[in-house]
Amino acid sequence: MSDKYIIQGGTPLKGEVSVSGSKNSALGIIAAAMALDGPCVIENLPKIQDIRVLLTICEELGAKIEWINGNTISFDPAEVKTHTAISENVSKIRGSYYLLGAFLGKFKKVSLLLPGGCDFGSRPIDLHIKGFQALGGGDLREENGIISIEANHLKGAGVFLDMISVGATINIMLAAVKAEGVTVINNAAKEPHIVDVANFLNTMGADVRGAGTDVIKITGKPYLEANRSYTIIPDQIEAGTYMIMAAMTHGDITCTNLIPKHMEPLSAKLIEMGALVEEGDDSIRVALLAEDKLKAVSFKTMPYPGFPTDLQPQATTLLTSALGTGRMIESVWENRFQYIKELQSMGANIVTSGKLAVVQGSELHGTTVFARDLRAGAALVTAGLMAKGQTTVTNVYAIERGYENFVDKLKSVRAQIEVVP
Ligand code: EPU
Repeated sequence: MSDKYIIQGGTPLKGEVSVSGSKNSALGIIAAAMALDGPCVIENLPKIQDIRVLLTICEELGAKIEWINGNTISFDPAEVKTHTAISENVSKIRGSYYLLGAFLGKFKKVSLLLPGGCDFGSRPIDLHIKGFQALGGGDLREENGIISIEANHLKGAGVFLDMISVGATINIMLAAVKAEGVTVINNAAKEPHIVDVANFLNTMGADVRGAGTDVIKITGKPYLEANRSYTIIPDQIEAGTYMIMAAMTHGDITCTNLIPKHMEPLSAKLIEMGALVEEGDDSIRVALLAEDKLKAVSFKTMPYPGFPTDLQPQATTLLTSALGTGRMIESVWENRFQYIKELQSMGANIVTSGKLAVVQGSELHGTTVFARDLRAGAALVTAGLMAKGQTTVTNVYAIERGYENFVDKLKSVRAQIEVVP
C-alpha cells in the first residue's frame, strides 16, 4: 500500500531547494555502464525508486554496485555474463529498455521483458527496433512479452528517426558505441540527458560526436576501458517543478545546483506570465508577490529545446491560478491529460479536446486526489499547495519514483505537507 500526502494549502513557499541528479540521464547512464568493459564511479545519482529498481536489475544480472557515499556509486559490470533480463523488476520501469541497446552492443544479442512506466497511451518502440535493425540486429522475436534481438555482425549505419525520440536516440547510441564502424543518427533528440549519456560514454572511452544537435555520429570501439568517474547533470524537470510551485504559491524559491540554460523554455514562460525569474550561474530564483496575479499564456510541448512534456501537468496546474484563459497543447504524448479530472475535482475550470486543454483561472479547493503517474502526481501536489483547505494525494509511490526527498525538500521551503502511511 502506497503512502498518502496530506497538504494544507495557502502557504507561500520560500527558501532554497538544491536540485538532484537527472532521473532520465541516470537511467541511460546506468544502462551504459552495463555495456562497459571496466568499472566506473557515478556521482550525483538521484536516490529515487526508478533508479533503485534499475540498480537492482543490474545486480540481478551480475553487476557489482556499491554506494560510496550519499549519491555516489561504484559500478563494476565485469561479472555481467548474461544477455537476458526478464525479472519482474524489468517490467516495473521504462528505463530498463536501455538494456536493449547496451546488451546488443556488448553481447550482439539481448532478451528483455517489455518495459513498464507511466501510462500516456501507446508507447511503441518501433524506432528503437528500426535503429537496431539498421545496425544488423535483424533477427527479432517477441514471445510472451519478451523481446529478443540478435545480430550476426553489428555494423555502423545511417539511421533516420522519422519521429524525434529520446529513448530511441539513447538506445541506438548505446548499441552503436560497440558496433564496427560509424553510425549516424539523423533527426536525433537533443534533450540535456542525451548529451549527458553521450558525455558519460565519451568519458569511458567511446567516440560520440554531435550530441545536443540533430545529427549524432558514433564511431564504434570494440573495448570501452572505463575506469573513470562521471557526475550526472541536475534534473531539469525536478527544478522546473519547484520553479512552478514558487510561482503558484506566490512564494520565493531559489533552486540551486541547476543549469539555467536547460530551464529557458520554462523561464521564458514564467516571465511572460509575470513572475520574477532571476538567473545566477547555477541557480534560478522564482518569485511572485502576494498581491500580483499571473497572466494566462499558451504552452505547446515539444522536444527540447521546446517546452518539456514532463512539465506539462505542472504548467497546466499553474494556469489554473492565472488571470484569463490559458491553453496547453500536448504534442509529444497521445494521452497525457488524464490527471485533469483530478484537478477538476479540486475546482479547476479546464476543458479538453484531443491534445488541447483550455484553462480558465479559478480558485482550487482541497479534496482527495489520485497520483496516476509521476508528473501528474507532482502537479496535484502543486495544486494542493495553493488550494484552499486540505488536499490528500494518494498513490504517492508514483511521485517518489522520480523526485528525491520530495517531502523533505518541500518542508524546507515551508510547505505544510505530511506523509501518512
Ligand atoms: N515514439 C514512437 N516510436 C518509438 C519511440 C517513441 O512512436 O519507437 C513516440 C512516442 O509514442 C511519443 C514520442 O515518440 O509520442 C516521444 O517519445 P520518446 O521516445 O521521446 O519518449 P521516451 O524515451 O519513452 C522519455 C522520458 C519521458 C519523457 C519523454 C519525452 C525516460 C525514461 N523517459 O520517454 O519521461 O516524457 O522522453 O521527453 O527518459 C518522465 O520522466 O516523467 C517521463 C515520462
